[in-house]
Amino acid sequence: MSNRIVLNTISYHGAGAIKEIPGEIQRRGYQKVFVCSDPDLVKFGVTKKVTDLLDEAGIAWSLYDEVKPNPTIQNVQDGVEAFKAAEADCIVTVGGGSAMDTAKAIGIIINNPEFADVRSLEGVAPTTKHAVFTIAVPTTAGTAAEVTINYVITDVEKVRKFVCVDTNDAPEVAVVDPEMMATMPAGLTASTGMDALTHAIEGYTTKGAWELTDMFHLKAIELISKNLRDAVAEAKSGEPGSGREGMALAQYIAGMGFSNVGLGIDHAMAHTLSAHYDTPHGVACAMLLPIAMEFNKPVVVERLADVAVAMGVDTTGMTTDEAADAAIAAVRQLSEDVNIPKVCEAIKADELDQIADDALADACYPGNPREADHDTVVELFKKIMA
Ligand SMILES: NC(=O)c1ccc[n+]([C@@H]2O[C@H](COP(=O)([O-])OP(=O)(O)OC[C@H]3O[C@@H](n4cnc5c(N)ncnc54)[C@H](O)[C@@H]3O)[C@@H](O)[C@H]2O)c1
Ligand SMILES: [Fe+2]
Repeated sequence: MSNRIVLNTISYHGAGAIKEIPGEIQRRGYQKVFVCSDPDLVKFGVTKKVTDLLDEAGIAWSLYDEVKPNPTIQNVQDGVEAFKAAEADCIVTVGGGSAMDTAKAIGIIINNPEFADVRSLEGVAPTTKHAVFTIAVPTTAGTAAEVTINYVITDVEKVRKFVCVDTNDAPEVAVVDPEMMATMPAGLTASTGMDALTHAIEGYTTKGAWELTDMFHLKAIELISKNLRDAVAEAKSGEPGSGREGMALAQYIAGMGFSNVGLGIDHAMAHTLSAHYDTPHGVACAMLLPIAMEFNKPVVVERLADVAVAMGVDTTGMTTDEAADAAIAAVRQLSEDVNIPKVCEAIKADELDQIADDALADACYPGNPREADHDTVVELFKKIMA
């Protein structure tokens, strides 16, 4: 059996990295940029940081900013029409996972129009052509959609989120500039950071994990544990610091790993909560993380003990079992310190059967190291009910 690693062709990291964007477009000879972003980022002037650079370089661009959090099939289809109307030849996406995922789907459909219905892209999509050339600029520190081969779209009609996995959607260039994340409020910094921690822990314990992805995941867990509290404090105070920079890098490293091996039951359940109740993705992941770790512990106890060490827990004198419990406790403590809610008040008892079925049908579930049946998933959801 062989393993596969897919990453960006080029990635830039650090404050001021967005200055590299015009050169990356010009040296490839592209003429018109389709900028895919969202309305809040336009309002806060975040998108403008990139479009000002395009203006300065004399590069023509057209803005599509109708992406909503947990983006919909409609967002993608409207974006495809906007791309055609703009007569653009490349994409720069500025945003969190929602804008970047929408841009990925648009870029895929432009070059593979037989998937214009969007739904047919679910799972491992059999596209034949690479997406439109894309530069991805994350403005949150969590999803790592700028480096992953996945995107997640909401089917409003069927009340479900679906994951599309396709090596043709990996953006060629990622520009991970912590200054693009500076306007994130504390709550968003916390929830997106916990999404990144969930990627790293699920990626480290998923069925397909191997040495190369282990390396990324352990480093990401270490960096997130060191930096997330500081990043949240910096977002509250407005003072610059090293936490935000650390989180920008950590979430990207987690993405280098999980994109190549998959996730597990936490993300499967989290997607379901977002589809039914519009729960922000990072909040859903974070609430479920210690619960998913507890459920998986019997089959990944040694791996969870490694997580404890990566999180900075002194495990000297502990048994493997105790160290695994210490990892779960450390995750709970970190969630509490950054004010993640413990319960999801929106969950309705009479919908538990449906959301459990949906979670088991999610593309992330098969990566989970331990099998769960319907009743078990219902019990797991009950643990985060009010
Ligand atoms: N492609 C992947 O591999 C992958 C991985 C994990 C999650 N996801 C998906 O990504 C989506 C979640 O993305 P997200 O958590 O980054 O949030 P998001 O993109 O949904 O953004 C949430 C809100 O935060 C605002 N925001 C973003 N950056 C900001 C900034 N710098 N300052 C102020 N406000 C800002 C946005 O305008 C939006 O209102 C979900 O749909 C999830 O399923 C994708
Ligand atoms: Fe995620």
